[in-house]
Amino acid sequence: MASRLFVRKPVSVLHKELEGEHRLQRALGPLQLTSLGIGAIVGTGIFVLTGQAAHDKAGPALMLSFVVAGMACVFAALCYAEFAAMVPVAGSAYTYAYATLGELPAWIIGWDLVLEYAVGAAAVAHGWSHYFQDFIGIFGVELPRELRSAPFDYDPALGELVSTGSILDLPAILVTTAITIILLKGIRESATLNAVMVAIKLAVVLLVIAVGAFHVDPDNWRPFAPFGYGGLGFFGHPIVGEIGKGGEPLGMLAGAATIFFSYIGFDSVATHAEEARNPQRDLPIGIVASLVLCTVLYVAVTAILTGMVPYTELSIDAPVSDAFARVGLPWAQLIISVGAVAGITSVLLVLMLSQPRVLLAISRDGLLPKRFFGAVHPIFRTPWKSTFLTGFVVATLSALLPLRILAELVNIGTLLAFAFVCAAVLIMRRTAPDAPRPFRVPLYPLTPILGIVVCLALMFSLPTENWLRLAAWLLLGFAIYFGYSRKHSVVTAGK
Ligand code: ALA
Repeated sequence: MASRLFVRKPVSVLHKELEGEHRLQRALGPLQLTSLGIGAIVGTGIFVLTGQAAHDKAGPALMLSFVVAGMACVFAALCYAEFAAMVPVAGSAYTYAYATLGELPAWIIGWDLVLEYAVGAAAVAHGWSHYFQDFIGIFGVELPRELRSAPFDYDPALGELVSTGSILDLPAILVTTAITIILLKGIRESATLNAVMVAIKLAVVLLVIAVGAFHVDPDNWRPFAPFGYGGLGFFGHPIVGEIGKGGEPLGMLAGAATIFFSYIGFDSVATHAEEARNPQRDLPIGIVASLVLCTVLYVAVTAILTGMVPYTELSIDAPVSDAFARVGLPWAQLIISVGAVAGITSVLLVLMLSQPRVLLAISRDGLLPKRFFGAVHPIFRTPWKSTFLTGFVVATLSALLPLRILAELVNIGTLLAFAFVCAAVLIMRRTAPDAPRPFRVPLYPLTPILGIVVCLALMFSLPTENWLRLAAWLLLGFAIYFGYSRKHSVVTAGK
């Protein structure tokens, strides 16, 4: 019985599946993959969470937080790239884990990826809503209070949940619905739309850096680390650094755990392996290139923001456009809010595009009902039923739960999945040393080991409730696995 839980899916079977009937279209080249990566990365994290994280957790030292979180992602990204080139089929970390660690760990990762993509998309939809409201606010238009945000939020000053006076986040529901409709139509159109939005958001980020640089007051960078450089806790007990009112770690490292969200999405490039024209060469390029570029931009934007506005006064809803409004540049505020809306749209697009593809990979193995999650539309060649379901879940979550809570939950789940991927590289090098590896992790075994250490450290830098939420999420996952998946597994059938 125990051995069944850890049965592995042979890599040869994965390759065979590529020849099967439920194939997705191979339409993506290296530029499109990098563009998908950037499309998924630069969004709510840099445009919204930067304000919250600098204000509540790290101050100007948030610049360093981005470097730490970026490092965790680079380690994980290199491990992803090794696998993505080796096993170029849809499903990402889930597929890698199935081939290396076995069925149950693979299921746990797949279930974790739902946190990353679907719950992540819900958090991103909130960011979209903030900038959309900022944009219409420039023209004096305001939504009724009841329709502006989730009904409650966490207030770090009080250390408790407070009512927002709203009922639901209407713009978040509307954007999620629109994207679901676009995604149902197909990958090629989606990739083109994504490329346009990526160009717009990169232009806006560069504008922020170029124009903002003239409005930086270096005095705002002092004190550089008002909450210290720590921020590591163990279930409410400080290990390194301070602890806030609600028991959450504070400091540069805690800031890194919060804005880790800004990097989420680079791995979604790997979920498109099956749709890549030359996955062996292009996937590592797509993953690593998009990540490095984003790290540089993030550090620069954070330096500018915390230099333009004292960290205590940063807006927590739309900090980037607000900073430009404050220094008397309303035209820049307008461009930034439009660019942020476009930019965040592309993040939503990629996350919501990735989720059904992970579900498709899981259903192929029988761990989820294949008739539903495996259904590929005969004309559009998209996993249409699960795309629809994803849209529904994302819209509901984004309407009702606050950004902070969604983002932190996504972070802890994703960090766990990344730690698994790094561990899987170590295991696979031992169990299948001779398997062809078109891309190999440099500085092996240091890179995967550092990846695991940094990811775990960041998990302990998040507020404690996240561990409880993660545990609840995993319990639900176990219930599905033992209630359904184990009995329907294709790989263990007949064993
Ligand atoms: N990295 C993505 C964002 O910041 C999820 O919006």
